[in-house]
Amino acid sequence: MKKSIPLQRRGFETSQLVLGCMGLGGGWSGIPITSEHVKQAHEAVDAALSAGITMFDHADIYARGNAELAFGQVLKERPELRDRIVIQSKCGIRFEESPRVPGRFDFSKEHIASSVDGILKRLGIESLDILLLHRPDPLMEPEEVAEAFGRLKQSGKVKAFGVSNMSAAQIRFLQASIQEPLIANQLEMSLLKLDWLDNGIHQNQKAGTEVSFPDGTMEFCQMENIQIQAWSPLAKGLFSGKDLEGQPDAVKQTAALVRQLAEEKSTTREAIVLAWLMRHPARIQPVIGTSNPERIRASGEAARIELTREEWYSLYVSSRGKRMP
Ligand SMILES: NC(=O)c1ccc[n+]([C@@H]2O[C@H](COP(=O)([O-])OP(=O)(O)OC[C@H]3O[C@@H](n4cnc5c(N)ncnc54)[C@H](OP(=O)(O)O)[C@@H]3O)[C@@H](O)[C@H]2O)c1
Repeated sequence: MKKSIPLQRRGFETSQLVLGCMGLGGGWSGIPITSEHVKQAHEAVDAALSAGITMFDHADIYARGNAELAFGQVLKERPELRDRIVIQSKCGIRFEESPRVPGRFDFSKEHIASSVDGILKRLGIESLDILLLHRPDPLMEPEEVAEAFGRLKQSGKVKAFGVSNMSAAQIRFLQASIQEPLIANQLEMSLLKLDWLDNGIHQNQKAGTEVSFPDGTMEFCQMENIQIQAWSPLAKGLFSGKDLEGQPDAVKQTAALVRQLAEEKSTTREAIVLAWLMRHPARIQPVIGTSNPERIRASGEAARIELTREEWYSLYVSSRGKRMP
């Protein structure tokens, strides 16, 4: 039996795996959704539920709102689903509008409030389970964020709050003003993007200067029971079946090791890649981005796989392409 994850310890009935919905709604062109996009969303949701995945990750910007719109159509056609799932979305990134209005981040209280109204409208729901601030806005004023969050909580529009792509220092900075606890932090982590581990093992070493992960963030989140979520956890399929032509040797060797472990354990390659993240004591939630029902089901297998310390390290060392220091 696997240990509980931070979100479960805060009362959320959720799976450890999350289905990321960035691939729904027809991509970034913003052309209106069709019945095909809604069908794709139905199939993804069905595959997720059959694989035991009950949490779904959105953002107001995914497919320029169309990912939420397609998902909302699924909920409209099957309203009984709402109580069975946890829905998370994000706000704070704005698209370029003109040369003088570039792509930017916006944590102003007005933008947070109008973003949430848009999210609820597109999803067709009364209340969002978790709202994340998508990427740190250098102009953030914690008191303003606190005011926005306070109103959203009071009105019942959002139940809980978190962040994404933030360091421990940035979370502490915001939390000092915000009454509601920040309960999740979503970061890029995978067998390909290893900085979250390399940061820890290269303390006091020159190699550490090349690592891009905020110091102490893993430890801080674990101490504060903040759910760490991994985006791009499948590394876009690099270790689970994608064409490897032109890839470095370390990637090819790691993909071969993943295949071997999957065969030994009679499971899928996706399960090995995800179980590797889930083996970490932070009880990471991988946010898988595939919308292919077959791959969603293959990913769900991760829930029953537990890697040994030696298996875990063999994957880490292989992907690093060098021995432990
Ligand atoms: N917080 C943030 O800043 C942030 C940033 C990016 C993403 N996210 C979240 O994280 C989720 C996952 O991100 P992601 O989509 O980048 O990650 P991912 O799960 O690593 O990759 C999924 C992508 O890889 C493709 N793929 C997977 N296995 C494959 C294979 N064997 N062969 C070929 N293609 C394969 C999928 O295509 P198919 O659909 O065809 O399987 C899909 O396009 C997103 O949906 C979103 O919710 C958050």
